[in-house]
Amino acid sequence: MKALKPHLLALPDYPYTMAQALIKLDQNESPYGLPPELKAELAARLAELPLNRYPQMHAEALAERIADFEGWPAEGVVVGPGSNTIIFALVAAAPRVLDVSPSFVHYAHSAHLLETPYQAVPLGPDFSLPLEELTAALTGDPGVFFLPNPHTPTGAFFAPERVSSLCQAAAGGEWLMIIDEAYYQFAPADLKRQAQGQEHVGILRTFSKAWGLAGARAGYLLAAAEVARVARNMLPPFGVPAPTALAVELALEHPGYVAEAVEKVRRERERVYLELKAHPTWKAYPSHTNFLLIITPDAAAAYQGLLKRGVLVRRQDHIPGLEGAIRVTIGTPVENDAFLQAAFDIAKEERGKEKEPEDATGED
Ligand SMILES: Cc1ncc(COP(=O)(O)O)c(C=O)c1O
Repeated sequence: MKALKPHLLALPDYPYTMAQALIKLDQNESPYGLPPELKAELAARLAELPLNRYPQMHAEALAERIADFEGWPAEGVVVGPGSNTIIFALVAAAPRVLDVSPSFVHYAHSAHLLETPYQAVPLGPDFSLPLEELTAALTGDPGVFFLPNPHTPTGAFFAPERVSSLCQAAAGGEWLMIIDEAYYQFAPADLKRQAQGQEHVGILRTFSKAWGLAGARAGYLLAAAEVARVARNMLPPFGVPAPTALAVELALEHPGYVAEAVEKVRRERERVYLELKAHPTWKAYPSHTNFLLIITPDAAAAYQGLLKRGVLVRRQDHIPGLEGAIRVTIGTPVENDAFLQAAFDIAKEERGKEKEPEDATGED
């Protein structure tokens, strides 16, 4: 196939395997979504929507609403059909990309697709932020530095002072630092106020997680006006579907439901984390997100064992340094109970298998 760039034909697909299960805990979605009365209101508004017309070029009305909600100048707000698309746009605009490792795979995947030079600095022990190494990297030829905080796929939270020191290093080296706050609602703090007025720092957020609108596909960047203008230009025009803008505008009118959902998820996250401490072979890491990273003796066996019991999680063991890792989204209490039950059943089954050869010897 000569019509397409050769490197694209050789690139592996985005690492996601679709599977069906009764309990879906594989994509860090909210188990709650819009409350029923808002869904009814959305249906009424959708019925009035002139779908024969294009939506606005860059969802300008929605960007204004987000600007009000966030207290950010509207010219610095960029809306995309998912924050993924904004990441792709920034990677396309960047002469090079700096990342940490492990990290959200979409940064590296976009860089490889777009042939943007890419460097990743490994995290320190217990997924700590490698300040010295990153500061050194930020003295090199500038580009865009992506840092997810809270961090995915580990669930770690980097202290604001440490992230701020990287913002300073980025500014000093003329890098653009994008703090990806996809999960900020589940964490103790965020960096928006520190980022405000700093032209070398942008904040990326999404409606897919705490807002419970993953199916609507909407995310946004808060940045300096010049950065925002370039990012907007890199996105396809008329790219945010009108029904999406409608759903997100409605949610922004009633943000109270989000805090409630987040509180439930945080409580459940702590419960699941604590209960897993009794698991004989799985180790969960503390999390400031809506998921837990769990190291198991064998990720394939854990994934299949859970799936067999109706629980779908995500394998993470393809990521260097995360051998044996799976990631489970925090669901409703009933879903989490099912997950825990399955996790402990698997342990029992494993123990049974270990005993079998001994028993067999005993019979001889
Ligand atoms: C850190 C991080 N950034 C961005 C995204 C993408 O979110 P969106 O649904 O807005 O494309 C995700 C999704 O999982 C994520 O984990």
